[in-house]
Amino acid sequence: MCGIIGYIGNKEKKEVVLDGLRELEYRGYDSAGISILSNDVLSTFKTTGKLINLEVKCKDFKSSGFGVAIGHTRWATHGKATEINAHPHFGEVSSVVHNGIIENFLDIKKQLESREKVFLSQTDTEVIVHLFEENLSICSNHIKAFKKTIDSLIGSYAILLITKSAPDKIFYAKNGSPLLIGSNGDEIYFASSSTPLIGLVDRVCYLEDGDVGYMDISSFDNLKNIQPMSGEKISSQKEGYRYFMEKEIYEQHKILKDTIRGRILDDSINLELPADFIDGINKVSICACGTSYHAGLSAKYLFEREAKIKTDVFIASEFRYAEPIIEKDSLFIVVSQSGETADTLEALKLANKNGLKTLAICNVDSSSIVREAKYYLLTRAGVEKGVASTKAFSSQVMLLWMLGIYMAQHKKTISNEKIKIQVDNISNSLEATKVNSCIHDKLKKLSKRYLHGHGFFFIGRDIFYPLALEGALKLKEISYLHAEGYPGGEMKHGPIALADSELFCVSLMPKHLLYDKIKNNTQELSARDATICIIAQEYNEVADDVVFIDKFDSYMEEFFAMMIVLQILALEIAIRLGNDVDMPRNLAKSVTVE
Ligand code: F6R
Repeated sequence: MCGIIGYIGNKEKKEVVLDGLRELEYRGYDSAGISILSNDVLSTFKTTGKLINLEVKCKDFKSSGFGVAIGHTRWATHGKATEINAHPHFGEVSSVVHNGIIENFLDIKKQLESREKVFLSQTDTEVIVHLFEENLSICSNHIKAFKKTIDSLIGSYAILLITKSAPDKIFYAKNGSPLLIGSNGDEIYFASSSTPLIGLVDRVCYLEDGDVGYMDISSFDNLKNIQPMSGEKISSQKEGYRYFMEKEIYEQHKILKDTIRGRILDDSINLELPADFIDGINKVSICACGTSYHAGLSAKYLFEREAKIKTDVFIASEFRYAEPIIEKDSLFIVVSQSGETADTLEALKLANKNGLKTLAICNVDSSSIVREAKYYLLTRAGVEKGVASTKAFSSQVMLLWMLGIYMAQHKKTISNEKIKIQVDNISNSLEATKVNSCIHDKLKKLSKRYLHGHGFFFIGRDIFYPLALEGALKLKEISYLHAEGYPGGEMKHGPIALADSELFCVSLMPKHLLYDKIKNNTQELSARDATICIIAQEYNEVADDVVFIDKFDSYMEEFFAMMIVLQILALEIAIRLGNDVDMPRNLAKSVTVE
């Protein structure tokens, strides 16, 4: 989603800001822009499409000496993805970039228009710069004018503003959207996530909601909660794979070793949680979006089966406004790859406000969700660049599975022998995620038969139902084909009406869980001429196509092996259709607006 970069210093500001935006590119955007203020000249460049277009547009521009600069990658919310709607938005002497949504922008716009301000764009953001310039003409100083402007805004925002009348400063405000300031003593950097700052600064401040102020080259030390920041820039490479998504599918068996590292001791699960963590907990609520929601839904089956603990799973955007009944003996778990998803973060804040014990399952240390939760466990999947989540999902399911066993240990709902078996299953599941080249080749060939038709049903039962949802989501996201995930047993309650020779059905048929039941459900679709592709250990006459997984002794191992098949199937279909697998249309990696 939208990304922000800011810079105060002596370097070539265009390069610094473009470098920063490149680090945010994988998060998804549809236009980009920069504003540079140096030697009393404010220059703005904007384009639609990829950053390369922006680089070309400003290739002859140079700015020497000290100055300030802001940059933005935009994922359209208000107004189409046009050059005019791209940020920065400018007034007579100022320029602004903004992440988030200004909910009352129409009211402000009307008032400004009634006072003859002219708007160029359809965005909510443009009101900020015009309102600031109007306030500046009334107020005695810049910060008063900026604060007055921010006080008028309702919604979520991370804002950077520069103005010719204060050429050494960047004004900033944060509410609900992430924003960081970093320093290395000589330069100041701003960014909407920590990645662009790694290797450039040694100290960083994660701004809090409600923070409003300005930075010049000497004011960094006045900030509260400055933390050290270490690490070298590790630029992710595709390492011979065609796409980051493909690389991330292949590296799952390696990163899952990191997920479990140090968390299995003496044949039992040992998590970085206090000894009394489970005491007094009688229920679990899990809240997440998208793929992370599917991981949460998978956990419900594991928590209830192993730890005998009632578990409800909520889509975060539905949880917030539903006036949920908050039970004090619930553990509230949020699951998020990025740790910045606005709906999940707000649900977490609500749970905290109601005094619940909260736990984040997250991939990004120091993310907003990790900082907001009372407890957290990191999935350790490493940076995920492909917009369609793969290794984040497997690491979430793995960690949640371990949490289920951890709770079962504490609640004594399973025997030591069963814990040992589960621990063995965990190790074997790592093996199950190793991509078998024969299976990949098979899927490459198979993909050409699955490019037409009016849609796909992915079906599964029990924990294979959330996996079916995830398989359908992967296909939808990168192939743009219509795909739905269903519990196998639901077919005859409506969806089967769509079954005909133009329907594809991908059926997850684990040998070790409800095999006969899912076979019956698949047969119902086959009888109505749907083309059936089964994923299974053994051949089954219901199938038109079979993708064999290796022989496994538990359904969780089968789960992880089938997950790999679904991810590769989506990948190969999307590649055949000529789509940009890593940056699919309309999608953003980190959804920081509700
Ligand atoms: C799908 C995908 C999204 C995210 C969702 C939540 O491939 O990546 O559905 O899972 O936007 O994001 P996080 O996990 O960052 O909270």
